[in-house]
Amino acid sequence: MRTRPLGRSGIRVSEIGLGAWQLGARREWAGPDEEESYRIIDEAVRLGCTFIDTASPYADGRSEEYIGRALEGRRDQVVLCTKFGFWAPGYQEDHSPDRIEEALELSLTRLRTDYLDVALIHSPPYELMDGRTVAHYRILQRLLDAGTIRAYGVADRASNADELRRIVHTTGSSVLETNINVLEQHQLDVIAEAAEAGVGVVVRTPLASGWLSGKYDRDSDFPNDDRRVWWTRAQVREKAAAAQRFRGLVPEGTTMTHAALRFLLAQPEISTVIPGAKSVAQLRHNVAAAQGTLPAATVAAIRDFGRRPAPGQHP
Ligand SMILES: NC(=O)c1ccc[n+]([C@@H]2O[C@H](COP(=O)([O-])OP(=O)(O)OC[C@H]3O[C@@H](n4cnc5c(N)ncnc54)[C@H](OP(=O)(O)O)[C@@H]3O)[C@@H](O)[C@H]2O)c1
Repeated sequence: MRTRPLGRSGIRVSEIGLGAWQLGARREWAGPDEEESYRIIDEAVRLGCTFIDTASPYADGRSEEYIGRALEGRRDQVVLCTKFGFWAPGYQEDHSPDRIEEALELSLTRLRTDYLDVALIHSPPYELMDGRTVAHYRILQRLLDAGTIRAYGVADRASNADELRRIVHTTGSSVLETNINVLEQHQLDVIAEAAEAGVGVVVRTPLASGWLSGKYDRDSDFPNDDRRVWWTRAQVREKAAAAQRFRGLVPEGTTMTHAALRFLLAQPEISTVIPGAKSVAQLRHNVAAAQGTLPAATVAAIRDFGRRPAPGQHP
């Protein structure tokens, strides 16, 4: 597995990372149980997929706990990224600056470590993405100076250019986590600004929450213990139509999943791409994406697809 620099943080990260929201997440994802979660983490480390993205409320804290247990004795082999601002159990939102250290202490305990590689503010409201007016980034800088964290940044909320610019230019962050995928490409227009400022870009939802694997269609239903059950029938049809159009751009012999991930890896400004995995098989397939590239013409065609409105839609 190749690695890339995570902005100016001094940390190098695997091109494909592990999105760990799914681990133990029975309500949100009908996710893998504890034993399968350990197998996923073991296999990720074995394959060099060593950037692991979690958050304190994922699976009511179980995501962090499973990672901590699985990595005991080899924590130094991975780059651990977690987030604060939502609290387990449930997703109680409290982004108060005076609770940052308490939140990170809980994460350190669950993750069984005494330092975090990356600490991110989890989907903060827009006004907290401004380092000129809020205390959060001074506190994070103090934790960085003390060695409790090696880098800090923001997992943005709306994933738009306005947020990206505020985070990159006012907060002193060296990491930005944001949504980018074949169906949601607008951040690609502005991530060069992040790269130029030394901010590493972590790409979440690279498979558009599973759509880009190609296994869903306009009639797909999701179970009640899966957050995607909230999509309306109209949204399902729209996503199915877009995924179908993407399918037409994928070279023969390449899976849609690999094409979706390789498209992102073709962007040099991106540090790591973190698909969520619900099984060892999914993890292995995602990791294998890093072993190939797409032809330049395909990358350009997918980029063009992202810029063009869907038939019947206005730009
Ligand atoms: N605000 C935030 O900070 C935030 C928000 C979202 C995500 N994240 C992070 O980003 C990570 C990735 O985003 P995501 O998990 O929401 O979306 P994603 O990576 O786009 O999609 C993940 C889903 O796609 C399906 N999948 C994965 N690999 C597959 C494969 N090889 N073949 C077929 N299907 C596959 C699985 O669901 P099915 O098999 O059930 O279809 C999986 O749950 C998360 O795990 C989390 O760490 C952070």
